[in-house]
Amino acid sequence: MPAPMIAPSILSADFARLGDEVAVVGGVEGADWVHVDVMDNHFVPNLTLGLPVVQSLLGHTDIPLDCHLMIDDPARWAPPYAEAGAYNVTFHAEATDDPIAVAKDIRAAGGKAGLAIKPGTAFEPYAEILKSFDTLLVMSVEPGFGGQSFIAEVLEKTRAARRLVDSGELRLIVEIDGGINADTIERAAEAGVDCFVAGSAVYNADDPAEAVRKLRALAAGRR
Ligand code: DX5
Ligand code: ZN
Repeated sequence: MPAPMIAPSILSADFARLGDEVAVVGGVEGADWVHVDVMDNHFVPNLTLGLPVVQSLLGHTDIPLDCHLMIDDPARWAPPYAEAGAYNVTFHAEATDDPIAVAKDIRAAGGKAGLAIKPGTAFEPYAEILKSFDTLLVMSVEPGFGGQSFIAEVLEKTRAARRLVDSGELRLIVEIDGGINADTIERAAEAGVDCFVAGSAVYNADDPAEAVRKLRALAAGRR
């Protein structure tokens, strides 16, 4: 199994200094992806940033951007993130009736396509369509805010996805988002997660780069 991936979420960074905040987690043994939480104040009750900020960030870092779109109407809004150069573009299963079409458009625009599911959304109904995706993002908090507590019940879903990946039925990066820190990351790693999003655990740490290394080491010890 490849080394665990760590994707710091800039939701907990200083939005007035985003370029510097991304640079802080880069470098050798640094972040594998930078996780960018896009919220529209419709799909979730919070508002963050959108395409212009992502375009600016793309000019300031070589770390692949992992855009997590917590927005309505991803068919309209998701493909432009891939066109702009985001590496992975994830949208929510709950936000569209035609996730396969959105995934196709993201891939046609040059991005990897990710499907996110909220804590209360079952995995099984999506198992088949995940053949059209590169990433499954299992939310381990209700989307909308950083700093919430980890919902361990969602690990049933990462285990189910891992089984399908290990059996060769799916080729997917299994990603988890919400409440990941030094106390929870090992449980998630044992449950088959490949990529760990961490916002407050990285950016509220005294040394964010050290926090990334520590989280990766903890995850690596459990896989
Ligand atoms: C929440 C976002 C997360 C958030 C995670 O809706 O999708 O990416 O930044 O923050 P922590 O790691 O603090 O739970
Ligand atoms: Zn996120």
